[in-house]
Amino acid sequence: MATQPLEAPAQWTTAPRAVDALDQALRENPQALPHHTEKWDVSRSDIYVEDRWQPIFKEMRAAGDLHKVNESPFGPHWNVVTHRAIQHIEALPELYSSADGITILEALSDEKLAELGRERFELPMFIAMDRPKHTGQRRTVAPKFTPSSIAEMEAEIRQRTGELLDTLPRNKVFDWVDTVSIELTTGMLAILFDFPWPDRRLLTFWSDWAGDTEIALIRELDIQRQGILREMGAYFMQLWQERANKPPQPDLISMMIHSPAMNQMSPEEFMGNLVLLIVGGNDTTRNTMSGIIHAFDKFPDQRKLFENDPSLIPNAIQEILRYQTPLAHMRRLATEDSELFGQTVKKGERLVLWYISANRDETVFENPDVLDIRRENARRHLSFGYGIHRCVGARLAELQLRVLLEEMHKRRMRVHVAGDVERVRANFVHGFRKMEVEITEF
Ligand code: HEM
Repeated sequence: MATQPLEAPAQWTTAPRAVDALDQALRENPQALPHHTEKWDVSRSDIYVEDRWQPIFKEMRAAGDLHKVNESPFGPHWNVVTHRAIQHIEALPELYSSADGITILEALSDEKLAELGRERFELPMFIAMDRPKHTGQRRTVAPKFTPSSIAEMEAEIRQRTGELLDTLPRNKVFDWVDTVSIELTTGMLAILFDFPWPDRRLLTFWSDWAGDTEIALIRELDIQRQGILREMGAYFMQLWQERANKPPQPDLISMMIHSPAMNQMSPEEFMGNLVLLIVGGNDTTRNTMSGIIHAFDKFPDQRKLFENDPSLIPNAIQEILRYQTPLAHMRRLATEDSELFGQTVKKGERLVLWYISANRDETVFENPDVLDIRRENARRHLSFGYGIHRCVGARLAELQLRVLLEEMHKRRMRVHVAGDVERVRANFVHGFRKMEVEITEF
């Protein structure tokens, strides 16, 4: 690593993880999160933490492509639940804008902020921009994600994955999320950014605080979040300053600094886009790595197929991405009135695109609640989105997942769920907080 580890300020080391802070707030006040009153308000995080969202979305899909929620802690919005409707909306980025924000959280007006006694804190990032700004900024990072750039990372990712797998205990219960999923994902991001290796867990810590939509509903936690994200900004600003004065290097931070498209970006946008890459590459890949183990444990016949035939790995990855759906939703804002699958959507209304539902759409995927690693159309999943904002890191995520399965296969590792499984309490990130497992051989 070219850079020296930076000293972490005290708050980084003493602040709790976002999930623990939320738990603590709920222990102190079980009513800390606002109440959801409407039947199909699927922004309520209990249905994800308890893993009982499937029949609710099924009922909604049967009733129509989109449904309006008039009252919700996240404000009024449309729930878009079918595969065809989400694809349609994402293919029309001028009519359905990303610039108002991409999670279900409402962009608050100045008056509303003053009423709530909060300061505005927004990091501009290209996922939440429309054309042409989006195009210019995406261009600063895209070269790092071409097939040839990704291929260059493979050897290092494979080596680190193999080394980690070799340290795992056999016939002893341990937490897969912390030991494997977080470690591998954070390591990959550290390689990508040439981030100081000993500090790499900060990437997970920041990403968890940045990507938690529930936290924004609790004032004290939201303020704490802003403080943590400001400190993250300061950390990256130092890395930027160190690298700005050096010749271009292959890491993503240096590439962005020296990109010809960088002159289209302010320092805030530079920072915002770094956060985007950290959050974008973090929980998502991590939760797929946990999702693999959970899904194989639930469908042992599919695990057996993988064990008998590793050539199924590429398709198995697509199927697990479909089945897991690591990001439950993205959001858009209607810029004009439009007719949408029998409903009238008014200018200024918000549309929440529930990928988690589209990936279980029975009109596209036969037996959608079943994992089938030989599924012919698994690739049609919407886990990476669709259209101009489709995930820029998709190939890198696929590489990591492929390498993990290949290295597990080489070592004839069979991973069983052997204890507690805890899911994340969130309506945006969809995944696991803890998963106790045990390894045997096949
Ligand atoms: C965009 C999912 C991994 C960086 C997105 C979107 C989704 C997504 C749903 C929005 C698409 C849309 O609005 O149509 C995922 C999943 C991943 C993953 C499920 C892993 C399994 C990564 C990685 C990185 C990354 C590894 C980079 C390190 C980004 C960026 C965008 C994005 C920068 C914004 C693209 C744009 O607006 O043009 N991702 N992602 N993602 N992702 Fe990923």
